Formats: sequence, structure tokens, C-alpha cells
Amino acid sequence: MTFVRYNGTHLCPEHFLRYVDRRVKREIRKQIDVDHGDHIAVAVSGGKDSMVALKMLASVFNRKTGVELHAITIDEGIDGYRPPSVDIVRRFCSENDVRFHLRSFSELGVTMDDIAPVCGDSSPCTYCGVFRRMLMNDEARKVDAKYLATGHNLDDMAQSIMMNFVRGDAERMARMAPHDVVRPGLIPRFVPLREIPEKETLLYAMLSGLEFWDGVCPYWEAALRNQYRDIVDQLEDRSPGARYGILSSYDTIKPLLRSGLKGADLHSCPRCGEPTLGSSCKSCQLLERIRARVGEAHAQDDTDE
Ligand code: FES
Ligand code: ZN
Repeated sequence: MTFVRYNGTHLCPEHFLRYVDRRVKREIRKQIDVDHGDHIAVAVSGGKDSMVALKMLASVFNRKTGVELHAITIDEGIDGYRPPSVDIVRRFCSENDVRFHLRSFSELGVTMDDIAPVCGDSSPCTYCGVFRRMLMNDEARKVDAKYLATGHNLDDMAQSIMMNFVRGDAERMARMAPHDVVRPGLIPRFVPLREIPEKETLLYAMLSGLEFWDGVCPYWEAALRNQYRDIVDQLEDRSPGARYGILSSYDTIKPLLRSGLKGADLHSCPRCGEPTLGSSCKSCQLLERIRARVGEAHAQDDTDE
């Protein structure tokens, strides 16, 4: 018997799977508008959340609906961590009629294994997140995707809202997915699992026999997000339903946030073509900085030998 704590429901495995299916399908319908011939991309790392999102989307958009599904995986260049998960995604795609695309940090001339030792005061995740989003958006644009799905669950959503709130970053809060406004060059993202707690996506993956990768990134400890994970978990422990409350408060104020902040104009980065607000995009700026540091570290290694 599964116990869904925030609403006090007891569900058997079969009903639990149906209960999650129903909520996710409702979210998909609410967040996107899809026609025959459209392409949908899904950002898939091979972890439980993105695999559950991919499975759900593959069951909704099969060949009969005339919608083509593309899974995009980014290889960050983390030895022993990423390769097994890539195999899992590739296997799922070949068995479920989903197109598989792999992009890799090595295209940028650096890997996370190069970056992590030299990223100084900033967290490795800063680089990882920016480069991953850039490659993901680039590939989604190449496959002509109308939308890009990510596997963020309710815990992720509540943490991001809290983080942006504490930092006073209303602009970023207004821009959180799901996106209902199309901005030039940016594939609008949607989040089918946004109402599903992390524990439930894990349970769903296990009960449905879904293969997924549960390895932990070796650079994970440095993530600032973990602070917010702890805070939100404590809130949820004391007041069950707190995560959902954070999300629904956000949904209430989101239209006000959006109307209050004029969307800044995006233009193409002169170096890489990605949409940006500044004279060059964040990814090009970080790349320039880190390439120099990685080069210095390699030169130092050569002299040490
Ligand atoms: Fe941040 Fe892997 S680099 S979790
Ligand atoms: Zn750029």
C-alpha cells in the first residue's frame, strides 16, 4: 500500500500509477497546444524524473497522434557517470519509437571533468547548467521542436521558487517554465511533472518497471540548490502540503509578475547565435573564462611531468 501523505489517500500500486498518469496528462493538456505534424523535444538525462516524463509523453504522443517525439541527452563529460545513463535513454528510445539525439560538452572544447577542478569560487553546476541549457536549446531548435519538456518535479519547482524569492530575482521567477510566451530563438519549455513530488516520481518509475539511472553526479555536493532542498523538505515535514502551497501561490502571482515586468528584448549572441540580453550570451562568457583556466591547468600539468 502506498501512502500519499499530503491528502491522506491510501492507494494500491495500480491506482497509484493511474493517479499519477491522470495528473501528468492533465498538466500536459494544460501547458501545451499540439497539432498533427508538430515536434516535441524532451530533455532526458536518464534519471528517474526525466525518464518518467519521457515515458508519459511517449504514451500520449504516439505515432497515431502524428506528433514526433525527440529525446535530447547532453553528455557533460563526467567519466563513469554519464555514459551508463546515455545507454538507458538510447534503449528506451529505440524500443518506444522516440528519436534520440546526443550532444556533448566536448563540442565546446571542455568537459565537466576539466572544469570542476578549476572553477574556483563558483559552483561546477553554474557552468554545467548554463552549457547544458545552451546545447539543449540549440538541439531543440534544430529538430524544429515546438516545445521542450523537462523532468522537473514538485520538489524542484518549490526549491526554484524559494531560491528566486530569497534572491529577490522577480525577473527570473517570472520567466520560469511553463512558458506561454514564445521568445525569439528560445524553445518554450514545459514541465509535465511539476505537480508530482519527487518521492512519487521515484515510486512511479519503480512500480512501472522503468529503467533509469540513479547515479549521483560527483560534483553534486557543491550545489547551492541543496540548501533550498533542505529548507523546503523541513517545511514539508512540519506542514505536509507545503511544497504544493509554494507552487500554487506562485501560480497565483505569476500573471502579475509577468505583467509587471516588461520582457526585455532578446537578440542573437554575435558569437554563437543563441538568444541573449547582453552583448554576448552567458554561455560564451563562461566558456571564455573557463577555457583559459583549463588551458592554464593543462599547461601546468605538462610542466609538472
Ligand atoms: Fe552540478 Fe553535476 S555539476 S550536479
Ligand atoms: Zn553566445
